[in-house]
Amino acid sequence: MAKKKNKGPAYVCASCGATHPRWVGRCGTCGEWNSVEEAAPAPSVASRERSGGTSKARPLGEVDMEDAERLPTGIGELDRALGGGPVRGGVVLLGGDPGIGKSTLLMQALAALCRSGSSALYVTGEESASQVALRARRLDAPGALDVAILATTELQDAEAALMAEEPAVAVIDSIQTLRDSDLGNAPGSVTQLRSVAGRLIDLAKRRRIALFLIGHVTKEGAIAGPKVLEHLVDTVLSFEGDATHAFRIVRATKNRFGPAQEIGVFEMEGAGLREVPDPSALFLAERPEAAAGSVVAPTAEASRPMLVELQALVAPAAYGAPRRVVTGLDGSRLAILLAVLERRARHRVLDRDVFASATGGVRATERALDLPLALAVVSSLRDEPFAADAVAFGEVGLAGEVRAVPRPGARIAEARKLGFKRVVLPKANAATLTDGEREGMQIIAVRSLAETLEKLF
Ligand code: TYD
Ligand code: MG
Repeated sequence: MAKKKNKGPAYVCASCGATHPRWVGRCGTCGEWNSVEEAAPAPSVASRERSGGTSKARPLGEVDMEDAERLPTGIGELDRALGGGPVRGGVVLLGGDPGIGKSTLLMQALAALCRSGSSALYVTGEESASQVALRARRLDAPGALDVAILATTELQDAEAALMAEEPAVAVIDSIQTLRDSDLGNAPGSVTQLRSVAGRLIDLAKRRRIALFLIGHVTKEGAIAGPKVLEHLVDTVLSFEGDATHAFRIVRATKNRFGPAQEIGVFEMEGAGLREVPDPSALFLAERPEAAAGSVVAPTAEASRPMLVELQALVAPAAYGAPRRVVTGLDGSRLAILLAVLERRARHRVLDRDVFASATGGVRATERALDLPLALAVVSSLRDEPFAADAVAFGEVGLAGEVRAVPRPGARIAEARKLGFKRVVLPKANAATLTDGEREGMQIIAVRSLAETLEKLF
């Protein structure tokens, strides 16, 4: 049985990685056209058994522990997202929309590492060496001109350079442009990607190179092709933000060497990316005064709490089904909150158009933002500004109850730092606050959405 199963080639979707028993024109899983291609057959059970193996299992207690050897880049926000810096022998996949600044960020990182004495290699398949040199000169980054560069689209060339140069850190820009000439498929296909990534990762582990792979992102927001790639690498970073906006956020969505969800914030300037060590102030800088529909919320998804401004605009539905449009927020969360507002807090919102956004190009999907988002919607609906000196956080349940969220103290501290005087928070969170955490803040503890609205509007 097993043998028969392994015989025929499977077909894999290049977009989502789903397998199909035979070729189809359209992937049934992700709906992409012309993305299904033949995959190399897996080796049969018999041949795997023959190849044997000499590794023996042993108790965990006998395993030597080697600490991850980090190479901090000195770019604090990048190191923060990586949990302290890139790790030797560790592989980081950096994904993001075209033009967001992936090449710029990693060139700056290599430049900084070169300056502190590490050797660095930049392999470019996207741009010519002279285009990369032009960018490097433009950056305000001493050390950029010491970075070794190789322009190629052949995996074998890249491997040869990695072995010859033995860099401490290397960047592949991008993984989709490299092609393994031993295989027939076009670059960027799943078979190619798997092979190229697999071989580079293997090389990085053996030679203890801190390796960055740049990956394109499809319009759906996945790193193109490869869910496959995310499993292979140690760390997945996504570079987010609106290309038309100056802020850029690097977020670790997976990290074998540190906490996930850690973020670093940058601003794109004429001479490259500049770190933003205090993002709250920047996110609130353009906040309109006394405008209805705007509420400031402290997030604490990453280790560093940040204040973000949530905005809502409620308008009569123009025609047909009311529209819900979100930017940087979770659309299904908004839909739930609107239903809760209507059914549990007697606010008529379900038949209106509702637009909501987190400003500054931030993606804020934490549950703690339920309460401030609901407040922003009500503020817009009533055309009454929310208190300018107050922040709010808390999860809202389907019964309209306000539930506790993690790290209330850290959220309040961030609000205090930015000059806020009042905080609306779940009663269960308020009960745990120390005197120090309450200091200088008026604490407004609430149990339900309806109670919050009564108290504040
Ligand atoms: P880039 O790093 O090439 O993006 P990616 O590799 O993710 O596709 O940078 C993209 C944009 O950043 C480009 O539109 C120009 C802009 N930019 C600056 O504003 N300042 C700079 O110093 C550099 C190098 C780029
Ligand atoms: Mg690029």
